[in-house]
Amino acid sequence: MKAEVAIIGGGPSGLLLSQLLNKAGVATVILERASREHVLSRIRAGVLEAGTVAMLQEAGVGDRMAAEGLPHDGCFLTDDELMVRINFKELTGTSVMVYGQTEVTADLYAAQDAMGATIVHGVEDVVIHDADSSEPYIEYSVGGERKRLDCAYVAGCDGFHGVSRKTIPEDKRSEFERVYPFGWLGVLSRTRPAHEELIYANSSNGFALASMRSETLSRYYVQVPLSDRVDEWSDERFWTTLKSCLPSEVADHMETGPSIEKSIAPLRSFVSEPLRWGRLFLVGDAAHIVPPTGAKGLNLAVSDVHYLYQALIDAVKKGDKTGIDSYSERALLRIWKAMRFSWQMTTMLHQFDGEDSFAAQMRKATLYHLSQSETARRDLAENYIGLPF
Ligand code: APR
Ligand code: PHB
Repeated sequence: MKAEVAIIGGGPSGLLLSQLLNKAGVATVILERASREHVLSRIRAGVLEAGTVAMLQEAGVGDRMAAEGLPHDGCFLTDDELMVRINFKELTGTSVMVYGQTEVTADLYAAQDAMGATIVHGVEDVVIHDADSSEPYIEYSVGGERKRLDCAYVAGCDGFHGVSRKTIPEDKRSEFERVYPFGWLGVLSRTRPAHEELIYANSSNGFALASMRSETLSRYYVQVPLSDRVDEWSDERFWTTLKSCLPSEVADHMETGPSIEKSIAPLRSFVSEPLRWGRLFLVGDAAHIVPPTGAKGLNLAVSDVHYLYQALIDAVKKGDKTGIDSYSERALLRIWKAMRFSWQMTTMLHQFDGEDSFAAQMRKATLYHLSQSETARRDLAENYIGLPF
């Protein structure tokens, strides 16, 4: 098999890149380890920056999002009973779109199918060969058979646990990491959202987030120790804990019900530099992870694709390498700014095990300052709605 661009991983990064390349007449093959059903069963975050919305529209996958997504002009940050509204629209002129990553992925698969794109599911033992030469190729197994895919470029879109990043020799990359000492327990329920906007809650009982997927589907999170297991969290325990973290004007009126999904995710900040080795380019979670507190994971993946897709089109179609030569540097500038924001939001809103009383006062003071200062709110809003590409 042959492709101009071989794409490892059929998550949002790989699918969006493939879609934009195919639209420009660049041939791709996506190699995805899991089944499509598995990829589409993963519940991930759900806040899209305006730049992400524009990219999805450019890729021709914006229609269902425009019809079913929920535009949000603001969100709340709270400290026990103090509610601080961040008015994105007024402070930045822009809003965000609440639309689940699972839906984005489903729309991308549908568009790729309509385009006749090649997506191979169930691949195993992917090995990227000669990425630092002008003739890279991929070997992989599918249905017990070993196959070869020749290509001009390789896009590593295979997430944090993929093979692409590890293909870059260790002495050619630097890794930066912070692992947080807690996780998020997430619950999806068929209940009306607690509030029409998202609430990021700092409280003396820990962090909680009230989010949503639609007017009848809610997504909630509470901070939990990393040692906790999902089966230790009955629905009742979850709702009681969640309510204890939210301001009473919200907690007292919120609808609760049976959970339809419950999972615990660890929180991590991670960057691997550079994003390029020869003809291999890392995109999305393969290169970087953010804690979910700023809703930047999917948005950063889309911004990587923004920097890479035109560069690859220029390289394949015109032999112009300027774009691919600057990809890593340009993408990393924005990645580090989102890293900083996600880390700051995480630090501002969570209780750290063994912290002193001073740390708790710093969080309170930061939230109180936000409630008083439009400058502080504008800075948060600018980062939340997405810095320019
Ligand atoms: N070979 C082929 N495919 C692989 C391999 C491999 N060795 N390893 C992983 N994959 C696949 C995974 O099954 C997954 O479908 O690569 C895909 C990677 O998808 P994601 O992990 O979703 O990463 P990405 O596409 O970069 O999406 C951006 O940012 O914060 C997150 O939640 C956000 O998942 C979103 C991500
Ligand atoms: C979600 O709805 O799952 C969600 C929203 C905002 C975040 C993280 C997760 O910051």
